Amino acid sequence: MTQLELAHEVAHRRTFAIISHPDAGKTTLTEKLLLFSGAIQQAGTVKGKKTGKFATSDWMDIEKQRGISVASSVMQFDYRDHTVNLLDTPGHQDFSEDTYRVLTAVDSGLMVIDAAKGVEAQTIKLLDVCRLRHTPIVTFMNKYDREVRESLDLLDEVERVLNIQCAPITWPIGMGKHFRGVYHLLRDEVLLFEAGGEKLTLDVEVIKGIDNPRLNELFPSEMAQLRSEIELVQGALQPFDLEGFLAGTLTPVFFGSAINNFGVREILDALIDWAPAPQPRDATVRVVEPAEEKFSGFVFKIQANMDPKHRDRIAFLRVCSGQFERGMKMRHIRLNRDVAANSVVTFMSHDREIIEEAFAGDIIGIPNHGNIQIGDTFSEGEKLAFTGIPFFAPELFRVARIKNPLKIKQLQKGLQQLGEEGAVQVFKPLNGSDAILGAVGVLQFEVVAHRLMSEYGVDAVFETASIYTARWISSDNRPKLAEFEKTEMNNLATDAAGNLTYLAGHRVSLELSEKRFPEVTFHKIREHS
Ligand code: G4P
Repeated sequence: MTQLELAHEVAHRRTFAIISHPDAGKTTLTEKLLLFSGAIQQAGTVKGKKTGKFATSDWMDIEKQRGISVASSVMQFDYRDHTVNLLDTPGHQDFSEDTYRVLTAVDSGLMVIDAAKGVEAQTIKLLDVCRLRHTPIVTFMNKYDREVRESLDLLDEVERVLNIQCAPITWPIGMGKHFRGVYHLLRDEVLLFEAGGEKLTLDVEVIKGIDNPRLNELFPSEMAQLRSEIELVQGALQPFDLEGFLAGTLTPVFFGSAINNFGVREILDALIDWAPAPQPRDATVRVVEPAEEKFSGFVFKIQANMDPKHRDRIAFLRVCSGQFERGMKMRHIRLNRDVAANSVVTFMSHDREIIEEAFAGDIIGIPNHGNIQIGDTFSEGEKLAFTGIPFFAPELFRVARIKNPLKIKQLQKGLQQLGEEGAVQVFKPLNGSDAILGAVGVLQFEVVAHRLMSEYGVDAVFETASIYTARWISSDNRPKLAEFEKTEMNNLATDAAGNLTYLAGHRVSLELSEKRFPEVTFHKIREHS
């Protein structure tokens, strides 16, 4: 493939994730995006929460039982000559670690807000993470077919709470039973609302020009208010500015109703027209450009048992440069080993299939048996190390105990693998034998207990461990580090990737140790290196 062809592939790719608080409409919108792209013909195939239909992301029993989506999945579809990769994120806050790591693999985000509720807790957290990386955000105000809050109020809240400027691209006409459609500020046209269903309806009716007499005929009571609102919006709010969007300081805002397929096409168009193509990435030794000839990428997620028919683990790798070709040799940098990529898979709307090629921005799935870890870099040989994949200091701790002592080997193996996968953090004390599990959310323990049982045949109970928090340890001062290790031996452990970790029993003991050893750094976040 020539340099020009490679650059063309990169320019025609978009990789984004939907961020939202649970129930804002992420699943519904995902379905509608797939519907518009033609990837599916009928909604209800991605996840039928209450309808009992086939559900791609409900791959684990526990998800089905609880009706929540634990694991992120990836979907790829074509739209307007572009390849779009949509990374799903678990909405439940107990799995936020997973979500944070997914956000390191995207180039833009689509924020969905329930317009009846406004900005909610999980949205705030997720947007904070996006901001760390200046990820451009498109905003969708959902559920205008219901009684919702004042639109200006909503924008004001987004600006205030999320600290990002709003540039409305469309503006709603009415709401609830009186929702008439939206006015497109850039195109000066009104898109008439029509309730849609599970299938894609014909194109919505468009009326050109806000002064078009037809609008007065159709909506005699609403037009005066719309005109004055538009005037206000145009006077008081920022106009759209691509640079601000790309810098992550301004978000284009769209209004609509996902369940009615209304306003969805406009978001897809915004992602294609404005969202960035795959971006250059820092790989420690240098910055890697997406259209470089050589292949490279990093693993941001590992998932087990995605499909009961394939009881394996899939490492999700974001391609950062070059061309992936089926059968090519990839170097697994951490293990310094070549891997022949014969059965690498891609993710379509509800199936996975062997892929022939992939480019920067695409997500490929590498089946593995436990030797790939989150954060691992793959290349064609160059010792790159992509940065920025975070691990957060856990806040909850448990000790795993088994009912049948003969299963100790299986328990160790299970915990080792689940730790590498990032399902939970697993610490091995330097002094002592019981593995300590750390999590950000309590549901993570439930998932681990469930998986230990179903995948490793281990019936384990988790007891609360009296640990306050964990900190990753580093120091340039070797003698001081050795002294620290000697003094704190009973509170030290290694994590799944072998990093030294300090497990503090109390807040006070952490503070004392920090004071006593100023040469040692106590990290709250570990970035994979
Ligand atoms: P999530 O993935 O963000 O958690 O949200 P999801 O799409 O599951 O949507 C949450 C609820 O909001 C669902 O209702 C869904 O139908 C509804 N919803 C989504 N978009 C719209 C919209 O544009 N208008 C209205 N009125 N409702 C919307 P549910 O009662 O929880 O489930 P269901 O029985 O409808 O599937």
